[in-house]
Parts: sequence; structure tokens; C-alpha cells
Amino acid sequence: MGKRVGDIAVETEPVSCKHMVVLGATSEIAVATLKEFAKKGQWHFSLCGRNEEALRHLAVELVSSNVSCSCHYYDTAMSAEDMQKLWEGLVKERRVEVLFCAVGYLGDQKLAQDCPDEGQLIFEANFNGLVPMIAFATNYFEGLKQGHIMVISSVAGDRGRCSNYYYGASKAAMSAYLSGLRVRLYSKGVHVINIKPGYVKTRMVAHKKLPPYISASVETVAHDIVNIYYKPKAVVYTMWLWSYIMLATKMLPDFIFKRLSMF
Ligand SMILES: NC(=O)c1ccc[n+]([C@@H]2O[C@H](COP(=O)([O-])OP(=O)(O)OC[C@H]3O[C@@H](n4cnc5c(N)ncnc54)[C@H](OP(=O)(O)O)[C@@H]3O)[C@@H](O)[C@H]2O)c1
Repeated sequence: MGKRVGDIAVETEPVSCKHMVVLGATSEIAVATLKEFAKKGQWHFSLCGRNEEALRHLAVELVSSNVSCSCHYYDTAMSAEDMQKLWEGLVKERRVEVLFCAVGYLGDQKLAQDCPDEGQLIFEANFNGLVPMIAFATNYFEGLKQGHIMVISSVAGDRGRCSNYYYGASKAAMSAYLSGLRVRLYSKGVHVINIKPGYVKTRMVAHKKLPPYISASVETVAHDIVNIYYKPKAVVYTMWLWSYIMLATKMLPDFIFKRLSMF
């Protein structure tokens, strides 16, 4: 039976299940992750994004895996008031257990160096435009004394690199934000999980030649994300090898690091 929520029709009616709000649901990593979650339990996914047609297609695909879905318009350029209306509509519909955020924009580093608008877009998509939704979820979960906030940041936030320091800085901001949030929510039973992928074979990096042994498939990343939901940890690197790569990268002294222009 269909009914309308927000701007886009709900694909199925609710069943007794957990409710996950997914920002950037059309992300290739998010799609693989939702399919993996669908294998493990009964879910209602509130799919949020700006491509309504792609959201509808995804909802139809997921519903065949025995989960229910609704679709909602979300863009990081929306006003905080509109985001608040979206969040209030979602929690009114049913109790939310998980906020999963997969929105991300790599942007054009070279363009950002000359054009402040591009830099702002990168920050809006990776940080500023996500924070209001995370803040609404935080207050809500804090009241419930439970919940999961799962956000995909990136290893790029661990140390600024010449080739993508706008993107890296926006992801570093998100990592710092999540770190503080985790301290705030520690005693409230709310898990704040920072997911840090290395290279993942998606359209976001389709223009790049990825190094073979440290580039993950979306299925590998999805598997890691689902595992971390069931056994929560503060930070997860996916693939795991990236935790060692980034440890070594962070330890490199500046007088060496600044000479590594291939980074
Ligand atoms: N692929 C990698 O190598 C890699 C590595 C580290 C971290 N990550 C992170 O992993 C996450 C998922 O990325 P992905 O690889 O799956 O890339 P993707 O398929 O390109 O997904 C990016 C998602 O972000 C959404 N988005 C971008 N700008 C938006 C905006 N202004 N408002 C609302 N939604 C917006 C896109 O929506 P549309 O469908 O409407 O464009 C899409 O759903 C991102 O946070 C990314 O930074 C990726």
C-alpha cells in the first residue's frame, strides 16, 4: 500500500523492525551497505538524497530483499529549518535507531585553489550540510539513551595531502566533530562511529588509477560497516590495512612529508 512521505512515495508500509535514516542513500557504498544490512535483519530504511529517481529505484530494489523503505528529499544545501522539518517528520513516522551518513563530495582540488565557491561546496557536502542532521539525531538519541550515529569520513582527514587538502580538511573536521560527540554521548548509551575508508572502487574515484592491493570493493567496505554496527567501535578503517598506512603517514616528520608531492 502506498502513501506519501516528504516529496517521494513510500514503497511499502511499516513492519515491526529497526529504523535507519540514511543520508546520501544513493552512494555506492551506502547501497552495498544497505543490501548487507538487509541480509541480517528486518529494517525500515528512510532513504534520503537529492536524486529522487535514483532513490525510488533503490527503494524498489531493497524492498525485494524483505525490508521496507521510504524516500525523502535531502540536499546539504537545504536550510537548517528544512533539515529540522525533515528530521521531525522521520521521527514522527517511527522511532529511529540509526543515523547513517554516506554523503560525500571529493570536489576539484585545483579548482578550489582558485575558486572559493568550490572550496565551500566541498565543506558544505562533507561537513556543514551534515552537521544539522547529526545534531538533531544527537539530541534525539540522547533523550532515548540509545542509538547509533554512523558517519563515513575518510582516511584523507588523517593528514592533509597536497592533492586533496580541501576534501581532507572537510573530513578532518567531521572526524573531530564525531570525536567530541562521542565523549558527550559516552554515558548516554549512544554509539558514535567514524568509518574511515581508504580507496574504494566507486564513481567518486572512477577518474583515478587506484593502487590495486589497497583499493577495496564496495562489498568489502559494506561488510566492515555492518560488522561495526553489531560490534560498535569508535573508529573503523576499511580496509583494515589503512590503519597501519595512516599510522605511518601520520608519523612521517613534516620535513619529509612536505617533499612528497606525489601525495
Ligand atoms: N570512494 C572512495 O574511495 C572513498 C574513500 C573514502 C571515503 N569515501 C566516502 O564514502 C562516502 C560514500 O562515497 P562513495 O564512494 O559511495 O561515492 P558516491 O557513490 O559518489 O556517493 C556520494 C553520495 O553523496 C551524495 N551527495 C554528494 N553531494 C551531496 C549534496 N550536496 N547533498 C546531498 N547529497 C550529496 C551523492 O548524491 P547524488 O547521488 O545525488 O550525487 C551520493 O549519494 C562519502 O562520504 C565519501 O567521501 C569514499
